Amino acid sequence: AAPTVHQAEAATVSQGVVESNHAGFTGTGFVNYHNVSGSYAEFTVTAAAAGPTTLTFRFANGTTANRPMDIRVNGALAADDLAFGPTGAWSTWKTASTTATLAAGTNRIRATAVAATGGPNLDSLTIGGPTAGSTPAA
Ligand code: GCU
Repeated sequence: AAPTVHQAEAATVSQGVVESNHAGFTGTGFVNYHNVSGSYAEFTVTAAAAGPTTLTFRFANGTTANRPMDIRVNGALAADDLAFGPTGAWSTWKTASTTATLAAGTNRIRATAVAATGGPNLDSLTIGGPTAGSTPAA
């Protein structure tokens, strides 16, 4: 299936705000996590079939320190302390990916800040698409 992009500003956010004051985001803005552990954005996505897929988070981190997040799918830990490292500026956006198994139908994908500094600024979550290291189809 073609990758689907889910904007963070449309996610359910706990302890964060939607902002648009740093350029380069897609959609209409991004989620600025509060600088606390436990802040999260939760995406509701639909999968046609159960199975493994790639979760790619687009983010900015203008600090010099990692802002790791736990990634949970339907409540189960899919990635422990996924790294959201420095991107160089709040207007410079990069991606962090992991693989996870989705259920057929509706899935809740939650990215929760682990550190007291909170999460990065989160632009979007893309479901599917190439896994790092895989060979693209000809
Ligand atoms: C700055 C920046 C915010 C960012 C925040 C942070 O205030 O402008 O966009 O979210 O730092 O450290 O989380």
